[in-house]
Amino acid sequence: MINKIDVFSSAYSFKEEDVRDKTVVIIDVLRASSTMVTALQNGAKGVIAVEDMDDASKISHNLDAQSFLMSGEKNGITIDGYDLGNSPLEHTEEVVKGKTIILNTTNGTKAIRRCSLADPIIVGSFLNLKAIVEYLQKLDDEEVLLVCAGWRGRLSLEDILCAGNIIYDLCGGNLPIEARDGAKVAFGLYEKFGDDIENSIKSSNYAIRLKDIVSVDDLEYCCQRSITDILPALNEGIITDINGKAK
Ligand code: MLT
Repeated sequence: MINKIDVFSSAYSFKEEDVRDKTVVIIDVLRASSTMVTALQNGAKGVIAVEDMDDASKISHNLDAQSFLMSGEKNGITIDGYDLGNSPLEHTEEVVKGKTIILNTTNGTKAIRRCSLADPIIVGSFLNLKAIVEYLQKLDDEEVLLVCAGWRGRLSLEDILCAGNIIYDLCGGNLPIEARDGAKVAFGLYEKFGDDIENSIKSSNYAIRLKDIVSVDDLEYCCQRSITDILPALNEGIITDINGKAK
């Protein structure tokens, strides 16, 4: 049973060595985690999270041109020449079924790369929250790290809220005795704002920063809780659904 929990507030708030061999859940509610969950739900073969454009282009050169799509954003905007942006709503079944998605985002995919020493590496969002909690409940491990992607080294309300919601549900509404400070903050934030996640996120820094770029439909979509049982996990460089719930 898990009783040691910590929450890291951004992709740059820890040393890569801190996560070695630990169970890690990476959270980027807006929008990388939500996009990965949705792409897998809609039948994408897998998602390769890349660090930057060079990384994306090297990986794509080793794949059959018909087998993949390039997705990603810089400052919320679709990267020039890419097939898709980072909107989960663009990753429909018609578009992604059977394809490998090479995903390049400002914070979310970098958080995944910075956790490469962790094992296992799971991707969490509000969309698959229940699946994450059920997975963690079954683990023999005593410790879990919830890694929030944040924004360029700063914390993001939506990621910490999601981490708090995971802890709350995992521990039946009580803080585990060995919760670290990060977990206590996330838990407290969830207790304060958990009843109205959508409106809290609509007034977050992210929503204000990208209000002219990211549609409100994306925000509303990403705030839905537990609409899918998809459980994305990184294995040998590719993120796939280990719950077998994809279309
Ligand atoms: C990121 O990785 O920073 C985000 O997912 C940004 C975005 O919403 O496109």
